[in-house]
Amino acid sequence: MLILGIETTCDETGISLIEAKENKVRILKNELATQYKVHQKYGGVVPILAAREHKKNLPLLLKNIEKDFDLRKIDFLAFSVGPGLLPALVSGKEFVQDLARKLNKKIIPVDHLMAHFYSVFIKNKRGWQEIKNIDFPLLVLIVSGGHTNLYLFKNFKEKRKLGETLDDAAGEVLDKCARYLGLPYPGGPKIEKLSQKAKNYFYLPKPMLQKGYYFSFSGLKTAFIELVDEIKKYKKIEEEIFNLCFSLQKTIFEILIYKLKRAKENFEAKGIVVTGGVSANQTLRKMVEKNFPKEKIYFPERKLATDNGLNIAIGGYFLCQNGFSPLDYQDIDVYPRTT
Ligand code: KG4
Ligand code: ZN
Repeated sequence: MLILGIETTCDETGISLIEAKENKVRILKNELATQYKVHQKYGGVVPILAAREHKKNLPLLLKNIEKDFDLRKIDFLAFSVGPGLLPALVSGKEFVQDLARKLNKKIIPVDHLMAHFYSVFIKNKRGWQEIKNIDFPLLVLIVSGGHTNLYLFKNFKEKRKLGETLDDAAGEVLDKCARYLGLPYPGGPKIEKLSQKAKNYFYLPKPMLQKGYYFSFSGLKTAFIELVDEIKKYKKIEEEIFNLCFSLQKTIFEILIYKLKRAKENFEAKGIVVTGGVSANQTLRKMVEKNFPKEKIYFPERKLATDNGLNIAIGGYFLCQNGFSPLDYQDIDVYPRTT
């Protein structure tokens, strides 16, 4: 089965072609165009510019695939329908619908957050690979620029949301605080890098620690900004930048782990999945592994942690395997928020 996966939820344009059969998959193409440079001067993603970039990049990425593969042979298209930025999703939807019409193919809508979950089942490598066999139930933490959601997955189809952020997402706080420090977008990877040279730790608050499985990061963001302002009164911020980055990411990650621990105590789970853009962070990975020495822990490969077309293509395969029938292009719609 040949599947073309298309990703346009935020600031990454991705198209990937996979072949899958009997629980095996091989990646034939994985094309990605990042838009960091476009959004950098605004310090965050500008939805309307993201849409413009998707429109520009999608035909170029498709061309790279078409030069090696006959797209008429694909079985169906998989498309990330949300949650994400509405203008970005709409530009992707128009492209996918047009392509599906031209090729006379159907579309499987793939949820963006589920695609982050599916990403842990595969490796980013050439040649045939077995899709990983992971036992359910699973505790699943999806931590990205738009979401901080904790779930209990009973199986591929049934999941229960335990909690989510009530304000900013973890990645959003990293991006916004980085911007306040004058660092380029996206802030997460930059903060990770600078943290490595830290020598000291600044205390920062951990809001909502006692409130079940819900998260709140906006108070922490404000405290961080106030700390930066205070430091600026008596020295250059560059002198403390390593310690500030380290303290911020450590505090955020400790909050995530605190909630994961509570969930692990209260729910029966055979493993823990941590995925989404922020899960690319090595310090977070080490902290999770250290705090759950006896558990089976699953992260996506670093390259698959952030948005990409491969996660969508594999999502299409999983949905198809679980009985979902592809839809006509007229029946596709996008949703900006979590359903
Ligand atoms: O999943 P993703 O690509 O897009 C959304 O769904 O939001 O995640 C992007 C987020 C951004 O906030 C970015 O700063 C963060 O993931 N991120 C990281 C790292 N790489 C990306 N955060 C911390 N450490 C990283 N290495
Ligand atoms: Zn994402």
